[in-house]
Amino acid sequence: MTEELTKMVAEARPYAERGKVADYIPALQKSNASDLSVSIFNVNGHDYHAGDYLKKFTLQSISKVIALALVLMDSGPEKVFAKVGMEPTGDSFNSIAKLETMKPSKPLNPMINAGALTVTEMIKGNSSTEKWTRLIEFTAKLTNDETVTYNASVAQSEFDTAFLNRSLCYFLKQHGIITGDVEELMDLYTKQCAIEMNCSELARIGAVFAMDGCDPLTGKQTIPKDIARICKTYMVTCGMYNASGEFAMKVGIPAKSGVSGGIMGAVPNRCGIGIFGPALDHKGNSIAGLKLLEMMSNRYGFSIF
Ligand code: DON
Repeated sequence: MTEELTKMVAEARPYAERGKVADYIPALQKSNASDLSVSIFNVNGHDYHAGDYLKKFTLQSISKVIALALVLMDSGPEKVFAKVGMEPTGDSFNSIAKLETMKPSKPLNPMINAGALTVTEMIKGNSSTEKWTRLIEFTAKLTNDETVTYNASVAQSEFDTAFLNRSLCYFLKQHGIITGDVEELMDLYTKQCAIEMNCSELARIGAVFAMDGCDPLTGKQTIPKDIARICKTYMVTCGMYNASGEFAMKVGIPAKSGVSGGIMGAVPNRCGIGIFGPALDHKGNSIAGLKLLEMMSNRYGFSIF
């Protein structure tokens, strides 16, 4: 399998030339556009890799799934669904448009920025520091790596330039969806997005979701089954933003992307997938990563449909 993966990575890598690395977060501009790596973590404990799979990258929007799982565990689905909806948007991930045109004004889902900011504010804790500690400890549990942390310079770079996200926050605050201090929330959210890991660790988290929240190595139920199911459903309908329909057609697995070029996939009862390829298409998804996933899905019959 390793040999096959290496071949597929070589075949998908040239697609990176058609994309470009994210530049609206200045620190992400430093990424190497031609990087492409993958890890597969089988639920039987075997893992397979190709490319520079130990290279670390920031999760960006992939972290939205982790924060969502934690908040659903903290407060239960009812409280979460009172603040964020269940529908895909068809708009780009940082769009404010629907907040203005929809009544009531609440984010359509937790995978777009407006919904994710709402969810991040809901993390339980008496202070921003306590919320952050709970989030990073939960991430450490999922990766089985206590040293997991965030990239401070990427977080700072986003914090300094996140004017659109601040606008979303103020809009949400006006409508009572978020209630706390916007700068504190931005600090927490940008740290969350800057949580850093490699493909192998990301694939391991994917495997937990693939097993309905049960850690394939320890056998522990890290996430309750019904909550893992909600997260995976959002990954299918909204995980690749306004490219989720095409992705379901071509690849057909629950997955979540981030503007760093990461993609986490979960093939039910089979494996978790971690991909890193920082050149993005115009919708903000890894262009070579998508091609690679399409090849893998065809070769291994990953589609759930
Ligand atoms: O909030 C942002 O804009 C980034 N921290 C994350 C966005 C993102 O990853 C969207 N992904 N495709």
